[in-house]
Amino acid sequence: MESATPVIVAIDGPAGTGKSSTSKAVAAQLGLSYLDTGAQYRAITWWMVSNGIDIGDPSAIAAAAGKPEIVSGTDPQGPTITVDGVDVAAPIRTQEVSSKVSAVSAVPEVRARITELQRSIAASAEQGIVVEGRDIGTTVLPDADLKIFLTASPEARAARRSGELKGSDVHSTREALIKRDAADSSRKTSPLAKADDAVEVDTTELTLAQVIECVVTLVEEKRAGK
Ligand code: DC
Repeated sequence: MESATPVIVAIDGPAGTGKSSTSKAVAAQLGLSYLDTGAQYRAITWWMVSNGIDIGDPSAIAAAAGKPEIVSGTDPQGPTITVDGVDVAAPIRTQEVSSKVSAVSAVPEVRARITELQRSIAASAEQGIVVEGRDIGTTVLPDADLKIFLTASPEARAARRSGELKGSDVHSTREALIKRDAADSSRKTSPLAKADDAVEVDTTELTLAQVIECVVTLVEEKRAGK
């Protein structure tokens, strides 16, 4: 039987644009693997915090960057993440990790380590993969078959995030998101950025189902060689 060549889809954008929900659903519908690269940066941050590394000291972070073993399970129906064999899916979502992840992920040694891991996961995905993050289309997988850049207004992003965090207040969520985006966009090493050849989708006025349909259609068009 003829097998389709693997398709690589890069989905980038700031927090709260629906990246994770969209990426997981698109991968599940199309039978592709799924990789949440933010979870990997959160996992290494969790390890640094748990091991008493000073987050304010980039050289201490750089020196420890090679130590934790991070493993991502790429089934979109049940993605997993472990550090040294410990399931960290819940602890990587705490406020403490969210407030420290930008500082850790700005360190070049951390990015080099995680980028290498991401490339090897993408290369071994037999059917193809949807990889979501901040620098996937620009740095990690510049030859991806399709690049999507999701955006939404700060208000929509904060409202979605506080809904996810079950009732936390929208104003403080908005402030925290804006601060994290500014840090992620202004760092020297592979900042959050739209690749020149990415398709930008503004999700402010769209439902999740509409965004998923839009991305699935774009992947199918690519596969059909349009
Ligand atoms: O997608 P997320 O909000 O869980 O990502 C958490 C942080 O990880 C984000 O604030 C910046 C960092 N990150 C990154 O630097 N590069 C990526 N490709 C993905 C995430």
